[in-house]
Amino acid sequence: MNASVLPPVRIRSLANANANTNTNTNTNTHANTHANANATATAAAMRLLPSEPLDHQAHRAIYGDLPRLDPGHIMAAAERSGLSGQGGAAFPAYRKMAAVREAARRARRRPVVVANGSEGEPASAKDKALLWHAPHLVLDGVALAAAAIGADRAFLAVEGGHGLRRYLVETNRQRPSSAVPVTIVEVPSRFLSGQESALVSFLDGGPALPRFQSRPVFEQGVGGDPTLVQNVETLAHLALIARHGPAWYRSGAATSLFTVRYADSTPTVVEAAPGTPLQHLTGAVSGQAILVGGYHGTWLPLEPAARSGREAGAGIRAITGDTSVSAEALGVPLGAGLLAVLPHDRCGLVETASILRYLALESAGQCGPCLNGLPRMAAAFGELARPTPRSDLQQIRDDLSRWAGLVTGRGACRHPDGTARLARSALITFAAEADAHSRGRCRACARPPMLPTATPATSQSTVTD
Ligand SMILES: Cc1cc2nc3c(=O)[nH]c(=O)nc-3n(C[C@H](O)[C@H](O)[C@H](O)COP(=O)(O)O)c2cc1C
Ligand code: SF4
Repeated sequence: MNASVLPPVRIRSLANANANTNTNTNTNTHANTHANANATATAAAMRLLPSEPLDHQAHRAIYGDLPRLDPGHIMAAAERSGLSGQGGAAFPAYRKMAAVREAARRARRRPVVVANGSEGEPASAKDKALLWHAPHLVLDGVALAAAAIGADRAFLAVEGGHGLRRYLVETNRQRPSSAVPVTIVEVPSRFLSGQESALVSFLDGGPALPRFQSRPVFEQGVGGDPTLVQNVETLAHLALIARHGPAWYRSGAATSLFTVRYADSTPTVVEAAPGTPLQHLTGAVSGQAILVGGYHGTWLPLEPAARSGREAGAGIRAITGDTSVSAEALGVPLGAGLLAVLPHDRCGLVETASILRYLALESAGQCGPCLNGLPRMAAAFGELARPTPRSDLQQIRDDLSRWAGLVTGRGACRHPDGTARLARSALITFAAEADAHSRGRCRACARPPMLPTATPATSQSTVTD
C-alpha cells in the first residue's frame, strides 16, 4: 500500500479504550497474555479505523467474513441499530433504504447504490482516512446495502487528486467476485461534488453540480433508477452492525470518526464513542471557540468549566472541554464530524469571512439564494472582519440576519441553508469581536485564516495509535 499519496493527516483511536487497557490481576502470565490478546482482537474487530491499511486477507483476519444475511435481516438490523447518516444530515439509514426499495418496487426497476466518499469539505479528512485504512469495511457495507435494497450495481465516489481511485480499484479486485459490481469513480475536488444530486448528475455524464429535478434521488437517480446515496462511514458502520448486531451498536460501544483541527497543525482523524468529552478528542488545546460539523456547521464559544452552558443567544450555548461530543450535549448537529478549535490568537470573524467567501464561490450560482444571497453575505462578513471605526455595525448585522433568513430553504439544495447556519452562529459567537472591530480594534486579525478553503496538497500521513 502506498501511503505517500495520502493527504497529511494523523490518526488516533479512543475506541474500545477499556478493552485495550485491560489490566488483569491474574498471576498466570500465559493466561494473562492470552486474555489480553483476545481482548485486543475483539476490540480491533469493533473499530472503524485499523492502525494500518488492510488488504482483504488482513481485513478478514480482523473482522472475519461478512455474514451472509438476507435482505430482511439487513433491513431489520439497520432499523434496530438506529444507524443515521454520517455525511452531514444524520438522516436515519433504514428510512432511506426502505424508501429506495419501495420506489424500485413501484417503478419495477433495479435500484443503484452510491457510496459517497467525495468529502468535498476541505477541512475534513475522515472519509479519506477510512477509505485508505478500512476500504473493505466500506465495500462490505456497499455489498450489504445493495443486498438489502435489491440493487444490481453500485458506485463508490471518491475525491480526485489523492490516488484513491487507483488504490480502491486494486483493493476491489482482491475481493471474491461479488454479486453486485462496484465501479470506483473520481469526482472533481469541489465542495458541491458530494451533494447527492450532483453525484447522480456526474455519474450520468453531466457536471458534478446539484441537479434541479422534480423527483428526489431516492426515486429517480442514476440512469433514472431509484438510488441510495449513503456516506462511506455510514456504510462501514453497517458492516460492523452486520457482524456485532444492532444491540451492540445501540449500547454506546460503537464509535464515529471526527476530523480534529487546531491552528495550523496537521489534522487528526479521531475515532471515538458518543459521549466522549471534547478534550479527549482535541487533546490539551485551549481556544476561544469551536466549529462543530463543518463549513455548514456552527461556531460555539469554548469557555472555562465555570461558564459552561452560558446562553450566547439563539440556542447557542458555551461549551467546555468536559462537554460530551454528541448532538444532544453540544446542542447542535455533528454534521460531517469536523471539530475545529479556534485558538485565542485567531479572529473568528476573519475565519468565517474566509469560509463564506469560499462557499459563495463554490456555489453553482444556479438558484437565487446562491446567485444573490451568498455573495452579499460573504461581502458583508468581509466588512465585519475588517477592524475599522464604523457606525453601521448594526445595519450590517441586521442585513446578514435578514439575508440568512431569506436564503434558507430557497435553494435547489441545502448549500444556502448550511452557509446561513454558519453565518448566524458566527454573528452570535463572535459578537464581542464585531463590536471591537467597529471601534477599529482587533487582537488577532494579523494572522491568516487557519481553516483551508481548498483541498490540501497531497503528502505524507502519520499513524499514531
Ligand atoms: C453542498 C452539499 C455538499 C455535500 N457533500 C457531501 C460529501 O462530500 N460527502 C457526503 O457523504 N455527503 C455530502 N452531502 C450530503 C449528501 O447530499 C447526502 O445527504 C449524503 O451523502 C447521504 O449519506 P448519509 O445519509 O449516509 O449521510 C452534501 C450535501 C450538500 C448540501
Ligand atoms: S442552492 Fe446553490 S448550490 Fe444548491 S443547486 Fe442552487 S445554486 Fe447550486
